[in-house]
Amino acid sequence: MKKISLFSLIVSALLFTACGEKVKDEAKAVTNTVSEATASTVDAAKDKAAETSKIAKEKAAVLAAEAKELAVKAAKEAEELAVKIAAEAKEKAEAAAKIAKAKTEEITEIVKKKVAEVTTPAIDTAKGATLYAKCAGCHGKDGKTKALGKSVVIAGQDISTLSASMKEYKAGTRNVNGMGTLMKAQIKDTSDADIDALAAYMATLK
Ligand code: HEC
Repeated sequence: MKKISLFSLIVSALLFTACGEKVKDEAKAVTNTVSEATASTVDAAKDKAAETSKIAKEKAAVLAAEAKELAVKAAKEAEELAVKIAAEAKEKAEAAAKIAKAKTEEITEIVKKKVAEVTTPAIDTAKGATLYAKCAGCHGKDGKTKALGKSVVIAGQDISTLSASMKEYKAGTRNVNGMGTLMKAQIKDTSDADIDALAAYMATLK
């Protein structure tokens, strides 16, 4: 009896031990399965994340390239527009300057003409010839006669000299050969414009 009990005790112990080992193994297997499953899930998630990130990167690169292209195109268009506007502005400015210059020249010409008209009234040589008719008796048709044998020959004298001496006779301030009063009588009723016309004609007598 004692022997049997000891034997069965040993067997039971062995069985128990074996049983324990089996449970342990099973637990290990379950643990392994769980950790394997976890590892594969983590790997799958990692792969997905990597793939998503790769796609996102590629998309971003494409968008960036498109944006760059658009920016370059816009810059080019802006530059072309600026050049065009500048060219147009230059053309307009040049045209305006040309018009302004032409207008200035035109106005200058008109002003010059007007000033000339005011400062030197048109001298009427034909009128001078008519007026000289009454002088020819003493001074000669050709102006080469010494009037009354006294005056200086007037032929060959220039306009300003002739005009000045006639105006002096008119004013009573000229008397070369004692005949100033006689000449004053000849010229006193002649206007300055007519004196200039006379001088212009007389200057043609050479
Ligand atoms: C009746 C004669 C007579 C008539 C007409 C006459 N003159 Fe004279 N003229 C003289 C005499 C004389 C002198 C010289 C006066 C002096 O002594 O300064 C003279 C002088 C002049 C001189 C100055 C010449 C000089 O260089 O000293 C001029 C110019 C002149 N006469 C222009 C005219 C004109 C123009 C007319 C016509 C509107 C005219 N005369 C009509 C007699 C005449």
